[in-house]
Amino acid sequence: MTLLVQILPALVYVTQTAHALPPHRPVPSTQTHDDVPDPNDTCLSPSAIQTASFLTGLEPNTPGIRPGLSYSATNPANFINFCAPHPLTNGRQTPLGSCNGIPMGRLPPASKMISSLITFPSPAANLPANKTFTVRLKISNLAAGFLTNPSASYYAAPQDLDDASGGLSMGHCHITIQGPGSLSSSSSSSSLEPPDPAKFAFFKGVDDRPAEPGASSPRRVCTMVAAQNHQPVLMPVAQRGAQDDCVRFSVA
Ligand SMILES: *[C@@H]1O[C@H](CO)[C@@H](O)[C@H](O)[C@H]1NC(C)=O
Ligand SMILES: *[C@@H]1O[C@H](CO)[C@@H](O)[C@H](O)[C@H]1NC(C)=O
Repeated sequence: MTLLVQILPALVYVTQTAHALPPHRPVPSTQTHDDVPDPNDTCLSPSAIQTASFLTGLEPNTPGIRPGLSYSATNPANFINFCAPHPLTNGRQTPLGSCNGIPMGRLPPASKMISSLITFPSPAANLPANKTFTVRLKISNLAAGFLTNPSASYYAAPQDLDDASGGLSMGHCHITIQGPGSLSSSSSSSSLEPPDPAKFAFFKGVDDRPAEPGASSPRRVCTMVAAQNHQPVLMPVAQRGAQDDCVRFSVA
């Protein structure tokens, strides 16, 4: 072991997850991986270490430096113990917040980034009250139909790509409708506040009933595209069009 640590100085053992190991699983005493690391090993493979995280990104002569940038946090071991001092997400949706230590996962190529468009309702549409309607949308580059148990596996595995479909992001989409709430707090759109994300009129199902009968009541419908384990999809480059779409409409 000492020899291994000398050869691979960044090899770090995960200590916090001992309680989470399957009961039958032996604690690894040596690491013998050659080219392909054991995906179940509880120590970080040298081939997985991201050396960019050694640095703040603002060291002198680093490309891209400009005023206003923040120092990145650094860690020599992929932050694998980042969550150890905090309550772990551990597959649960925790309203008080938590820390999720699962890797972000595989990102699709820029040619396969997700894009969404809500085709109904149309922007500024005024829909009749108490009448069921169907939200229609188009999503490109999503390998849909992958949905893990949100009560037990929330953020519990990395984003993955569907190699069978040529590398599309595996996941699913939600529809969320908000309003009226703050959307109707003012007639001047410049004084509107972002709607409270904890308050939504509908999630997934779309069967709108206005809270203020008779009033023309604003709503916002949005897609929320997610990877299998419900995390928002991660795309490979920062400068791009949004993966989600929102349409504001009203109900009268
Ligand atoms: C890793 O563990 C899972 C059970 O969690 C098992 O099904 C799988 O076969 C293991 N993979 C390897 C490569 O040992
Ligand atoms: C919509 O339904 C609500 C609750 O049933 C009712 O109070 C309201 O009058 C209805 N509005 C219209 C325009 O039908």
